[in-house]
Amino acid sequence: MSILITNIQELLQVREENTLKLSGNQMKELPTIKDAYLLIDNDTIVDFGSMIDVSTIKADKIIDATGKLVLPTWCDSHTHIVYAGDRSQEFVDRINGLSYEDIANRGGGITNSAKILQNTSEDELYNQSIARLKNVMTLGTGAIEIKSGYGLTPEAELKMLRVIKRIKKEFPLKVKATFLGAHALPLEYKDNKQGYLDQIINVMLPQIAKENLAQYIDIFCEKGYFDLNDTEQILNAGKHYNLIPKIHVNQFNAFGGIALAVKHNALSVDHLEQLNPEDIKALKDSDTIAVALPSCSYFLSIPYTPGRQIIDAGLPLALASDYNPGSTPSGNMNFVVSTACIKMRLTPEEAINAATINGAYAMGISNQYGSITKGKKANLIITKPISSYNYLPYAFGDNHIDTVIINGQVI
Ligand code: NIG
Ligand code: FE
Repeated sequence: MSILITNIQELLQVREENTLKLSGNQMKELPTIKDAYLLIDNDTIVDFGSMIDVSTIKADKIIDATGKLVLPTWCDSHTHIVYAGDRSQEFVDRINGLSYEDIANRGGGITNSAKILQNTSEDELYNQSIARLKNVMTLGTGAIEIKSGYGLTPEAELKMLRVIKRIKKEFPLKVKATFLGAHALPLEYKDNKQGYLDQIINVMLPQIAKENLAQYIDIFCEKGYFDLNDTEQILNAGKHYNLIPKIHVNQFNAFGGIALAVKHNALSVDHLEQLNPEDIKALKDSDTIAVALPSCSYFLSIPYTPGRQIIDAGLPLALASDYNPGSTPSGNMNFVVSTACIKMRLTPEEAINAATINGAYAMGISNQYGSITKGKKANLIITKPISSYNYLPYAFGDNHIDTVIINGQVI
C-alpha cells in the first residue's frame, strides 16, 4: 500500500540519513520544505520533495494536506505507561500541603503503585495500559520507551515487562523496554537494601535476560532511594546482560550520578532538574544525552531542567513525557513541547528537535525514527491547518493534530 501526501504547507524535520542526534547550536535549525509532497510505501518513507516535481508520482491513496504541516511523530524516550490504578488521592494530598517526599515516607508514592500492580492480573494491567497507549498514539507518539519499576517483586516486575513485550507485538508504534527494578525499596526490604539489590541482580536480571524482556536498565539514583554505590552495582550487573543504562538522576539532588552514568556509557540521563557545572562537564565529550521531563516539573511544581543551559553548553537535549501515575499522569508530548518552550525557553525549533530526532537517539532508534528521511519508518503527524510550526507550542493545550500515521498505518 502506498500513500502520497500532497500540497503539504510545510514538511518539517527533513534530514540526511546520517543525522542521528543534534547538539547545541545544531538544535536551532529545523530544516523544512515548503509546498511539499511525501510518498510512503508500506511502512517506509520512500520519497519527498517540492510539489513542482510531484506530477509523475502515483499512489494507492492520496491525502491532500493543503494548509497543513507534516512532521515526524514524537519519540517519547521516557515513560512508565504500564501501571495499575492511579494516585489521584496523593495529588489531592499534595494540594493540601504534603510534599512528594512526605507521601513517599508514609508508604505512598512508588510503593503504593507497586501494591496495586502486584494485585492486578497481567491481562488487566495490559488493558489499563493500552487505553493510555492508544491515547498517546492519537496525540502523535509513534515511538515509546516503557519502564518496569512498579512491580518491585520478581513476579510483578516480570509481569510488567511481559505486558510491555505484548504491547510491542500488538501495536504499530516502536517500543523499547527498560528494566527499573531499582525504582524504590519495597517495604519488606526497608532495613535490607542490599538484600533487594541482590534479588534484582541474582533473581530478576537472569530471568529478564532469559526471556529477552528489556534492552535498557534504569535505577532511581536519588537521596532516599538508591545511592552511587547501588547505582554502580546495578549498572555493572546490567552490563553483564548487555543492558544499556538510561537512568533517573538529579531529580531532587545532584551528587555525582551523571558522571557515574557517563562512566558506564549510559545512553541517557533523565530528569536533571538539579544540575551543577560538574554535571555539564561530565556530559561533554560523552555520547550520553540529557533528557528533560517538563511535565513532571509542572505537575510536582519542582524546578524545570535547565535545558537552555544544557543546549548553550553545546550539549544535546531530548524531551520526554515521563508518563507515570505519581509525578506525571500525562503522556501528551504536544504539552511537553509547549512547556519546554514556555518554561525552559527552548525555541520551537529546539523543542521539536528535542522531541523527535533527539528523542529517537535517547531510545537508540534514531537510524530509523525521528526525522523525514528516505528509508526511515513512515511515522508522521499531519496537523490541522495552522499558520506555522511556531503555532504548535504557542497555542498550548489545544490539539492541533489532524492525522497520525504510524508504521505506514493511518491511526
Ligand atoms: O520519573 N522519579 C522517579 N520515578 C518517577 C515517578 C515515580 C512515581 O512517583 O510513581 C519519575 O518521576
Ligand atoms: Fe520517570
